[in-house]
Amino acid sequence: MKTMQADRPDAAQPILAVRDLRAYFRTDRFGVRRDVRAVDGISFTVRRGEIYGLAGESSSGKTTLLKTIAGAVRPPLEVVGGEVDFAFLPGYGGLHRAPAAEVARIRWRHLSYIMQGSMNALNPVRRLRSAFVDFAYPHIGVSRKQFEREVIVHLARLRLDPSVLAAYPHELSGGMRQRATIALATICRPDVILADEPTTALDVVVQKEVLGMISGIRREIGASVLLVTHDLAVHAHLTDRLGIMYAGRLIEEAATAEIFRNPLHPYTRHLISSLPRIGDDVPREGLAGSPPNLADPPPGCRFHPRCPLAMDVCRREVPAMLEIAPAHRVACFAVNRSAEA
Ligand SMILES: Nc1ncnc2c1ncn2[C@@H]1O[C@H](COP(=O)(O)OP(=O)(O)O)[C@@H](O)[C@H]1O
Ligand code: SF4
Ligand SMILES: [Mg+2]
Repeated sequence: MKTMQADRPDAAQPILAVRDLRAYFRTDRFGVRRDVRAVDGISFTVRRGEIYGLAGESSSGKTTLLKTIAGAVRPPLEVVGGEVDFAFLPGYGGLHRAPAAEVARIRWRHLSYIMQGSMNALNPVRRLRSAFVDFAYPHIGVSRKQFEREVIVHLARLRLDPSVLAAYPHELSGGMRQRATIALATICRPDVILADEPTTALDVVVQKEVLGMISGIRREIGASVLLVTHDLAVHAHLTDRLGIMYAGRLIEEAATAEIFRNPLHPYTRHLISSLPRIGDDVPREGLAGSPPNLADPPPGCRFHPRCPLAMDVCRREVPAMLEIAPAHRVACFAVNRSAEA
């Protein structure tokens, strides 16, 4: 079990701070270097106990960002700049830079990572009990008998019967597999849970159930959650703060309710206004063009080829994320100028 003092730094300090993080997929074919700039200068913090959401359409870099934070950085992915600071891992600037022994100490116990498609990631030829023993047992200093008792109590929190421990993954429904994955990710009461599209493959009813459980268990164990999903309805229900990504960058961040009430970036406005509403009968106007190729992104603001407000400066310079109202940050020349005026 956790020691209380050594692992509990100052409560006011964010549990996770990402600073100007850059992670590229780098390939070299026949001497031609190609960089896919999937995460390109992202900064944000996650507070203790909050659910921070990240939204953005497919290929905006959400999964790459989570992988990098989790330290799951393997070629061709490379961290080319910036830092990831966890309150429980000072001094390294990220799990990708920490020695293997530190990584082993942190995983599961302080940080767990529910990967995209993870409900299919359980080992198909091993019973669920083995997964708990392999991953969680080394971190919980109790006897095997006591461990089994704790696992059963924990499974009950996710409304799973102890009999699932004897099952192979394929014997469980998708919803049960995902709940088992969440049980595995939370049994060691980590400080931070990274969850990448944890409900996307589930049907709507099961989705609601699983989301409710993530929220409940987070409250119970007092963890912070970094929740990635392209589904804004999920963010509306679950997250405290929300960051919007576009083409490898964070372009807006505020309390979730504030983003829905007062979206400021033209791309966020588009996302919010294109949400289906009850009583809609006219299809909404889409956004012209498509997101840029991250191997050759446009200069300046990456949204400029599609932006109805684009100006000259947008084609030349990258807009900085500025705090335009208390706790509301936006990276847009048009918004930031109108706030200055
Ligand atoms: N293994 C890879 N090699 C090269 N490019 C990749 C690889 N994985 C993802 N990418 C690219 O990185 C960008 C961001 O992808 P991803 O992080 O998966 O976005 P999201 O999770 O928002 O859909 C995309 O352009 C994608 O094509
Ligand atoms: S910086 Fe310019 S191009 Fe980018 S969103 Fe704002 S107005 Fe549009
Ligand atoms: Mg993804």
